[in-house]
Amino acid sequence: MTKGQPERAGDVVIRPLGPDAASFESAARLHHRCFIDGWSADTLKDLCTVVGTIAITAQSANRTATATPIGLAIMRTVLDQADLLTIGVDPDHRHKGLGRLLLQNAEASARALGARTLFLEVSQDNTAANALYRDAGYIVTGKRRNYYRTEVGCGTALIMKKALTV
Ligand SMILES: CC(C)(COP(=O)(O)OP(=O)(O)OC[C@H]1O[C@@H](n2cnc3c(N)ncnc32)[C@H](O)[C@@H]1OP(=O)(O)O)[C@@H](O)C(=O)NCCC(=O)NCCS
Repeated sequence: MTKGQPERAGDVVIRPLGPDAASFESAARLHHRCFIDGWSADTLKDLCTVVGTIAITAQSANRTATATPIGLAIMRTVLDQADLLTIGVDPDHRHKGLGRLLLQNAEASARALGARTLFLEVSQDNTAANALYRDAGYIVTGKRRNYYRTEVGCGTALIMKKALTV
C-alpha cells in the first residue's frame, strides 16, 4: 500500500457534502468536534451554493449517507487557484490517513475544475495540520502575525502553497 492510502481505505467512503439538510446538520456536528468555533449547518450549506466549491465528507462505509461523517474538507476554486477553506477529522478517527485522503480527493477535484495552484492558511502552532500539509507538498510562502485569537494571546498564521502538476 502506497503512502497516501489509509490502511482503512476499504472502510471509508468519500462523498460530496449535501444536498439534504440532514447531511449539513451532521457535517456541522463534526465541524464542532474539530474546531472550537465550528461552523453551523447554514454556513456549510451557504458555502456549498458558491460556484467552484468542493465539499466532501469521509464516512464509514457501513453507515448511511446522512450519518455523522468522520471527516470533512471544503475547497474553493476560482479560475486556476484553489483555497482550502477547512479540513477536519473526528478526534476518534485521527492519524489513520483520513486527513491525507480528504486532502488528496479535494486536490484532485480542484485540479479537474482547472486549479493549478492551491493555497491554505494554518496556525503555526497546529502541529498535526502543519505536518499533514508539509507531507502533502505544501510550502510556506508567508506569515500573518497576530492573526489567530488563542487562549494565550494571538497566534501566527502561515500561508502555504502547492503547485499542481497537470
Ligand atoms: C489536521 C487533521 C485534519 C489531520 O487529520 P488526520 O486524519 O489525523 O491526518 P492523517 O492521519 O491523514 O495524517 C497525515 C500526515 O499528517 C501528519 N500528522 C497528522 N497528525 C499528526 C500529529 N498529531 N502529529 C504529527 N503529525 C501528524 C503526519 O505526517 C501524517 O502522516 P503519517 O501518518 O504518515 O505520519 C486533524 O488533526 C484535525 O482534524 N485537526 C483539527 C482540525 C484542524 O486543525 N484542521 C486544520 C485547520 S488548518
